[in-house]
Amino acid sequence: MNVFLNKIRPNVRALVPYSLQHVEARVKLDMNENPLDTPEVIKEAVIEQLQHREWTRYPELVPQRLLAKLAQFAGWPENGLLVGNGSNEMLKTILMAVAGPGTRVTVVQPSFSVYQQLVMITGAEYRPVLLTPDLQFDVEAICREACRSDLTIVCAPNNPTGTQITPTAIRKILSSTSGLVIVDEAYYEFSGMTSFDLLREFSNLILLRTFSKAMAMAGLRIGYLLADPQITAEVAKAKLPYNLNFVSIAAAEAGLDHIELLQANVRRVIELRAMLTARLKRIAGVEVFPSGANFVLFRTPLPGPALFESLFAQSVLIRDVSKAPLLDRCLRVTVGNAEENEVFLAAVRKSLLEGAVRHVAEKEDNPGIL
Ligand SMILES: Cc1ncc(COP(=O)(O)O)c(C=O)c1O
Repeated sequence: MNVFLNKIRPNVRALVPYSLQHVEARVKLDMNENPLDTPEVIKEAVIEQLQHREWTRYPELVPQRLLAKLAQFAGWPENGLLVGNGSNEMLKTILMAVAGPGTRVTVVQPSFSVYQQLVMITGAEYRPVLLTPDLQFDVEAICREACRSDLTIVCAPNNPTGTQITPTAIRKILSSTSGLVIVDEAYYEFSGMTSFDLLREFSNLILLRTFSKAMAMAGLRIGYLLADPQITAEVAKAKLPYNLNFVSIAAAEAGLDHIELLQANVRRVIELRAMLTARLKRIAGVEVFPSGANFVLFRTPLPGPALFESLFAQSVLIRDVSKAPLLDRCLRVTVGNAEENEVFLAAVRKSLLEGAVRHVAEKEDNPGIL
């Protein structure tokens, strides 16, 4: 064993790494990616820019043109915006500026696991607050913890449950605390809900957004935050210089230049979600939770790993989230295109049928167990 391992902080060594195996599958619905690829005109605009630029040069330290476009798109001043290498980088930057030993961070559970991972690394005290048993936000419980926390993180809509939270409830949380509140709006475009209007009223609110989901650019790693300019200026000190490369800057600009194409695709994904939800509900034994995002959480009579494996054997990859608190027998499926959704639904039907048959057979083998 490497004798220097003791130099890695104990709270880091205690962590289980955030790991996902990169596995191939015919239908890949495990990462909440946009099923409709970036429109060609956007790709062409980016490629054109890249061809006429010297790659030997650094990108801009402050991507002014992108910030101007983003400010116009979001309706928020440039000095209240910070862009980075995915919204995850922005989250890490905020935590570096805010969290550390002696601070408390409240996080809703179950939610995006990167929150807990990053909070633990900072050495801050991690304060989880469970959703209610029917997977709604427990606003009273969040307020009770938030009022004693330096930072509270709420994912709206929530990953992996798809649960929505209204701006009225977010207002309550913001009012309850003297700490900062991050509202992660990674999926807000699919929900028709945003806490944006609260930014003017609450100087403790930080909104996180991404180009990875509705904007169909997960591979380019672009995210941003919106906050009071004074908070933004302080958080910016924790950001690495040149954190956004010029390919990503060009892509983000081109995406904003053609926002109407991306918004049309978002409307299509919302339709596909409605179809997927309705069809999934019709399968006997399946409980589907309402979702404001581009994924759907569902529960079946089978154990999560069993259904996951059975679907994977049919080359359909989704996410087994059944180990998370409150999510026994639950899995999360990303809304795919029409064809992918069909394959997924057929695979679920087949798996449940086979699983049900096996369960009956097991029961017959074990008549003593009632
Ligand atoms: C809630 C949430 N926030 C952020 C992210 C990651 O965003 P980005 O790709 O911008 O780092 C994800 C990705 O799945 C997510 O589910």
